[in-house]
Order: sequence, then C-alpha cells, then structure tokens
Amino acid sequence: MVSLLRLRRQRDIFRFLMSVDNLSFPEAVRWVAEKYSIALPVFVARPEESDKDRQQILDATQATEAFYQNVLRAEPEAQEARRYLQQRGLREEVIEKFGIGYAPSGGGRLIGYLTEQGFAAELLEKAGLAKKSELGKGYYDSFRRRIIFPIKDVRGKTLAFGGRVMDDGVPKYLNSPETVIYSKSRHLFGLCFAREAIREQNHAILVEGYLDCIIPFQEGVRNIVASLGTSLTQGQVRLLGRYTKNVVVNYDPDTAGVNAMRRSLELFLEEGFRVNVLRLPDGLDPDAFVRRSGAQEYRRSMKQCEPYLEFIADEALKDAGAGARSRLNAVNAVLPILAKVPDRVERLEFVSRISSG
Ligand code: CTP
Ligand code: MN
Repeated sequence: MVSLLRLRRQRDIFRFLMSVDNLSFPEAVRWVAEKYSIALPVFVARPEESDKDRQQILDATQATEAFYQNVLRAEPEAQEARRYLQQRGLREEVIEKFGIGYAPSGGGRLIGYLTEQGFAAELLEKAGLAKKSELGKGYYDSFRRRIIFPIKDVRGKTLAFGGRVMDDGVPKYLNSPETVIYSKSRHLFGLCFAREAIREQNHAILVEGYLDCIIPFQEGVRNIVASLGTSLTQGQVRLLGRYTKNVVVNYDPDTAGVNAMRRSLELFLEEGFRVNVLRLPDGLDPDAFVRRSGAQEYRRSMKQCEPYLEFIADEALKDAGAGARSRLNAVNAVLPILAKVPDRVERLEFVSRISSG
C-alpha cells in the first residue's frame, strides 16, 4: 500500500497539479491515481473535511457569479452599471464572455440569495463573499455597488472577484481576499480565454489591469493576460510559462509601472523567458490606447517594442545622470538583473552599453 507520507515526499507532480490546476493535495493524488489506474488506500480516496469546504466554496463562488450577472442584466438598480460599461466601450458579448456582473447595494442581497440555496453564512465568509458585522452577529455582503469582474482559473472556474466603483470612490478596486480556492499570486486574469491564442502564437502580452486585458481582447488581441496590479509573482510567471516563453510586458508607463516592470523582468529571466517591453505613448494604458487608436495600431506598436535590455539600460542611465561615477551607479543598479541574463555575450553587451552610455 502506498503510504500517504511517501506520496507527499514524491510530490512534484502533485505540487504541479495543485498550483496549475488549482487542486488540493488529495484531489491531485486522486487525479493521478485515476489517470494511471492506481488503487488508492481509502483514507486518501475519501474526501477530507477541508475538501468538502473547498468544493462548497467553489460552488458558492459559481453561484455568486451567476447572481451578479443576473443583477447586471435585469435589475433597474444596475442601469448605472450598464451605462458605465457601455461608456467604457464594452460590448454585450464580452460582458457575457468574461462573466461581468454587478453587486447591488443593500448589504445582504447576495447572502440572502445564497443562504436560501443552502450555503451557510460562515462558509460565505470563508469564500470572501461575506463579512462579519462588527457590531452584531450578522453578516453583510463584501461587494456592494460595484462592477464585478470574475477571476478564473485556467479551466474557467471562477475563484474570486474584483469589484470596481463607478465613480471616484476608494478603493477603486476591491478584490476577494486569499481563500482556500484563491491565491492571487497563482493566477492570471484572462488566461482561460487567452491560452489557446497564446499557444498558437507562442507569444503572450502581459498587462496590469482588468480592462487593459478585456478591451484589447474584445478588439481581437486574444493572447493577453493581466497580472492584476503591479507585483507579478514567480507563480504567475511559471503559469504563463506553460503556454509560452515569449512575452511582451505592457505595464503603465508611470513610476510604479516602471519599477514593477524591472522586477517582473527578473522573474521572467529566471524562468527562461524572452522578454520585450512595450511602453505606449502619451502615458496611455492598453485599454485607453486601444480605445483611442484601435487594435491594429496596438499590434503595430507591439512590433516596435524594446528588448528588455534596452529598456533596463535606458532607465538606469536616465536615473543615473551624467559622469563616470553615475555610470558606475547605473551598473550597480542593474546588477541583480544582469546576474540573471542567461547568455554571456548578452551580459557583456549590456555592461558595455551602460558603461559607455
Ligand atoms: N488594482 C487593485 N486595487 C486597486 C487598484 C488597482 O486591485 N485599488 C489592480 C486592478 O487589477 C487594476 C490594476 O491593478 O485593474 C491596475 O490598476 P490601475 O492602473 O490603477 O487601474 P486600471 O486598470 O487602469 O483601472 P481603470 O481603467 O478601471 O481605471
Ligand atoms: Mn485603465
């Protein structure tokens, strides 16, 4: 009999399935066992308590997506939301495809709907959908009066949500917390829709925001995913690496975006990617650029994007200013990245470029 302990020790394939297909450890074991017709001891084959929780949280999350979609489609309260989406240039088909919805006001609509379907309020709290009220014993909906963007895994299961205000309220986006089914650092927004195109084109575009992904996608740029904020993780890079090792990073050209770009380049290099950097003109993000100039122009600018080394060198030199001493500083600043450039010739080129300015 295979002991659970031994299985755990030989867990590369399991860990892989866990992170990539979002399975729990027992689920991963069962998957492999089924695939290779291995009989499992009962204590592994039987779903664990936490496993049941997981499944219920997944179910509640799918039901939530449908609820928010229905509110957006049908309710008078969502009229403002429908208008907002229209103003931002989203068409019906893409709203449906991405499962975009609306979280109504009131504070208890979702909880009411889900508890009626048999989900316990405590479970909804674990799913990040409800919050315990600080005063009394009750719960209230986590998302209220927000446009809802479902965050899905590669297979299209919804794991979490991002909710945007329709005015200047803060925070602009409210996101699901980390839960037993969702870890921000292991998913890429839009990957389930983009993965085929990414594989076919052997190339991906990485952007920051929900709409930076959705709007170009709507206009036919299908190989696009978003990191949801600026801090890309190794898990996200590896996930993308299953589909391609070629990426264009198209972050916002603001300071945060530039710093994030530098960090993301290191990660991509570590995972053996070929990276280019695209900086759009006039400080535009991909959403705004595509709405202004169209997808064709976006694709065209993609062809003129910079190899990452040039980008890094330019930035370092810009920061450093003139003089030999500053050049030394510039070299120092890029050393961590330099260390990760796999090719020796490229490495030398990089140094000579910076030191001769
Ligand atoms: N983000 C977030 N929480 C915030 C702000 C941003 O999670 N409070 C994430 C969102 O995924 C957002 C991305 O970071 O899409 C980029 O943020 P930002 O550039 O500020 O917003 P945009 O994507 O441009 O949003 P919009 O176009 O809707 O204004
Ligand atoms: Mn934007």
